[in-house]
Amino acid sequence: MATSWTPDQPIVQCVDVRKSFGALEVLKGISLSVRKGEVICIIGPSGSGKSTLIRCINALQPISSGSIQIEGIEVSDPRLDKLALRRKVGMVFQQYNLFPHKTALQNVMMAPIHVLGQKRAEVEARARALLAKVRLAGKEDTYPGELSGGQQQRVAIARSLAMRPDIMLFDEVTAALDPETVKEVLVTIRELAEDGMTCILVTHEMNFAREVADHVYFTDRGVIVEHGPPATLFTAAKDERTQQFLSQVL
Ligand SMILES: Nc1ncnc2c1ncn2[C@@H]1O[C@H](COP(=O)(O)OP(=O)(O)O)[C@@H](O)[C@H]1O
Ligand SMILES: [Mg+2]
Repeated sequence: MATSWTPDQPIVQCVDVRKSFGALEVLKGISLSVRKGEVICIIGPSGSGKSTLIRCINALQPISSGSIQIEGIEVSDPRLDKLALRRKVGMVFQQYNLFPHKTALQNVMMAPIHVLGQKRAEVEARARALLAKVRLAGKEDTYPGELSGGQQQRVAIARSLAMRPDIMLFDEVTAALDPETVKEVLVTIRELAEDGMTCILVTHEMNFAREVADHVYFTDRGVIVEHGPPATLFTAAKDERTQQFLSQVL
């Protein structure tokens, strides 16, 4: 789809996004924008609608009203080319969902070959480089069941990157990990961010959010209560709900 988007405009723009499941409205007018290369973190209590928002941005859930544009493309447009969107937006979940009967390398190679029809040799070279990038060189031929949670999550990140997305969405990707493997996954995400990848992260790792985010959004019950640069939000939150949440998690 042709758009007039240029990189100096927001790469992701949500305007008054609303989403209901039946009578339950879980997103009540969310507006946010992300510039190319920015890292934003979305924090807030369970049930705030964080995962729903992430899923709407990736068109995994249709929105009820409002607008979400990715590189100028309206995600709720019924004519949306979903494959084109999948190529632009990578997503990593709490559950890594690797194929258990495929090796790490095969997991990373699958989508570019089977979804995009790219040449095996090229894809393999890229997949090997990506596994090295997420610090899994030497694990190419290992099956997911033989890897730690943190290693599996890094394979999942490499698998997303193999589609060469412009934007990466991370939904609590360390929440299910053993504490000792959380750090290695955060290191991988930090390096991606330092390389200039645009990242939207839902996270409970407040220290990480403070260090890597350009901007932090605090959400509660379907609204953005407050947002700002981490130095401001984490030390001088204005809203009582933000202060209370931060006092519980910091
Ligand atoms: N597919 C769905 N159908 C019905 N309700 C849902 C669905 N997905 C999420 N919800 C509800 O939406 C609210 C927000 O959920 P979620 O986006 O997962 O919040 P968070 O990620 O912030 O914990 C919750 O009340 C949840 O039960
Ligand atoms: Mg969630």
